[in-house]
Amino acid sequence: MIPSIEWTSDNKVKMIDQTLLPHKLEFLEFDNYRDVATSIKVMNIRGAPAIGIAAAMGMAIATIEYRDLPKEKFLESMEKAANIIRSTRPTASNLFWAVDRIWKIITSYPDSPKNLSELVIEEAKLMAQEDITVNKNIGKRGAELLQDGDVVLTHCNAGSLATVQYGTALAPVRSAIEQGKKISVIADETRPRLQGARLTAYELQYDNIPVKVISDTSSGLLMRLGKINKVIVGTDRVTSDAVFNKIGTYLVALAAKDNNIPFYVAAPSSTLSLHETVKDVTIEQRDSTEVSNVLGKVQIVPDGVECLNYAFDITPFRLVTGVITEDGVFTHKELLKKYE
Ligand code: MRU
Repeated sequence: MIPSIEWTSDNKVKMIDQTLLPHKLEFLEFDNYRDVATSIKVMNIRGAPAIGIAAAMGMAIATIEYRDLPKEKFLESMEKAANIIRSTRPTASNLFWAVDRIWKIITSYPDSPKNLSELVIEEAKLMAQEDITVNKNIGKRGAELLQDGDVVLTHCNAGSLATVQYGTALAPVRSAIEQGKKISVIADETRPRLQGARLTAYELQYDNIPVKVISDTSSGLLMRLGKINKVIVGTDRVTSDAVFNKIGTYLVALAAKDNNIPFYVAAPSSTLSLHETVKDVTIEQRDSTEVSNVLGKVQIVPDGVECLNYAFDITPFRLVTGVITEDGVFTHKELLKKYE
């Protein structure tokens, strides 16, 4: 799969417009941080690691806009930009991790904003490169868990499109296939935004990896019928007591537990927020029309009936077999010991 986001040679942020997939592969280019922030909000780009990189690149674009200002004014304007970017989506750790990483450079730099801008641009590009390296390592670690012939269930899209490239939950699948194992994927469609049907299916088909899409309500039956060997999902935030991921993940984890199927979470260390617990996290609630109208178009709910649209849910660690990071595969206890 081609990169979902990149920094162009003429200092713009270029990204795949994921709202148009799978029908059209089109790109957006931004030279303004406000537009980058909007693209995160409306989900032109989505997936925790990808929005982290978009946030870093948004900050870099902002330094270009403000670099001719006197230092004090520059800092004031950058703080405003950071706040606008931070307010786009509340759940994914990577967004805050990325803004904080750039912010540290900005506030510790003694020289003029002009020179600082170059540094920030380089840092954002480096973060994009690091994302791919980290994902490939998640792939190598996770591939060891997969046997020839395995069918892997995944929820939402935690693939190449959710990162810069290669993915997190789909990285072990890609890596195992590169090692010569025969692996296929079952993708939950993932109502209401249909990231599984639209994006996971698209990127796997693009790379000739066998994939079948199921309705969200089917995975329990398929597990019971012995048609799923492992579950691997991504995550937006891992706290000390739970995993936050796309709405519906918890139900998949419950069904996996009941059917003795290993349930793994793939997480770059930038998604870990182990100093927090469940009560510290805001679960994003999106516009109810995402539920009432299929893909914002056909209304499927009677006029006047309220819809609830929580974007993420909470899977307690008792349902998680292991967390796959770039450093290895960890049980809950091991994860806390390694990263806390
Ligand atoms: O609302 P989205 O599409 O941004 O949600 C994405 C997910 O839930 C992914 O599983 C998660 O961000 C991990 S992506 C590697």
